[in-house]
Amino acid sequence: ENSTKGKLLTLYEKAEHFYHHILVNTQAGEAAYNYLLDRGLTKESIETFKVGYSPPQREALKMYLENEKLDNPEMLTKSGLFSDRDDGVFYDRFSNRIIFPIKDARGQTVAFSGRAFEQEHQESVHTAKYLNSPETELFNKRRILFNYDKARASIRREGEVILFEGFMDVISAWQVGVKNGIATMGTSLTEEHVRALDKVTSEIVLAFDGDNAGLEATKRTIDFLTQETPFTINIATFPEKLDPDDYIQEKGVEAFKEFLSHGRDTLMSFLMKYHRNGLNLKNESGRLKYIEIILKELTRVTSAVERELYLNQLQDEFEISADSLKEQMHQYIQEQQ
Ligand code: UTP
Ligand code: MN
Ligand code: MN
Ligand code: MN
Ligand code: MN
Repeated sequence: ENSTKGKLLTLYEKAEHFYHHILVNTQAGEAAYNYLLDRGLTKESIETFKVGYSPPQREALKMYLENEKLDNPEMLTKSGLFSDRDDGVFYDRFSNRIIFPIKDARGQTVAFSGRAFEQEHQESVHTAKYLNSPETELFNKRRILFNYDKARASIRREGEVILFEGFMDVISAWQVGVKNGIATMGTSLTEEHVRALDKVTSEIVLAFDGDNAGLEATKRTIDFLTQETPFTINIATFPEKLDPDDYIQEKGVEAFKEFLSHGRDTLMSFLMKYHRNGLNLKNESGRLKYIEIILKELTRVTSAVERELYLNQLQDEFEISADSLKEQMHQYIQEQQ
């Protein structure tokens, strides 16, 4: 362990403690604390995930670290905790945000994400809803998966990992007993993420937001995963544009668990729904287009039995013989090679 990394870890540990303390024990954090409790987070999961709050006083973190004799300017700069300014003053980058500590696979805090708080109007214009630490020697977004450290054991136990879009989805699911959930840092899944997941499971459930952005992200992730690895992919598409956290709050814990385990689509049933969306199956050209797309999608299904199943479905729906469909599919396979 080189000393820069060690010093950064110490800084992050202190910063995490500071933010968490402000949220849970001080007047300055009261509004943010109540906001989180109102959203349904429990005190226990706020504790488990060491959620915090950075006060609006932008020099508070610097003063705290000064007190701890951890104010070496070079390290403060490297930490990414402070915004880049040319006046030499260390202003907290995350000021007036709710803080989610980001851990590496060993459970050490290596970065933070801050959610905008109480500036709903300005936020859309001036600042992002979530702001992440910049990349450092310890933090690489391409590698880090939120909650991987805590989820790993239950991913193994459950035999599958659930990929959510957001921190709040992961935490909400966790606190109702779904502990094999993870999320990327607001980016697409990468080869590095896949390698980490591949070590612990071969089954992945995509549980993205039910809005259009979530649907498109699901499709992109499927396209990426199927060219990358032999994961079995299932998809939970939440209705009414809800994200998993919204769904828990609106429909309740039991409905959520039921939907997650029994309401999910297989890869092909998701793709069939997805491709139906833009097409009019009432006319011939729409039907032909749809059949073409689905046969092409079927080429990435490796199980012969599964292929047969969906070819039979197409046969029944469109009254085209399974033999012709199969022949066409094999032609597409050859074109791809
Ligand atoms: P969402 O916009 O769906 O937010 O982004 P959310 O997780 O539902 O958050 P709440 O419920 O409004 O508090 C999903 C994820 O995308 C990343 C974050 O990781 C977020 O959790 N994101 C989103 C960013 O990195 N930056 C942003 O500005 C917004
Ligand atoms: Mn505490
Ligand atoms: Mn979203
Ligand atoms: Mn969301
Ligand atoms: Mn949400």
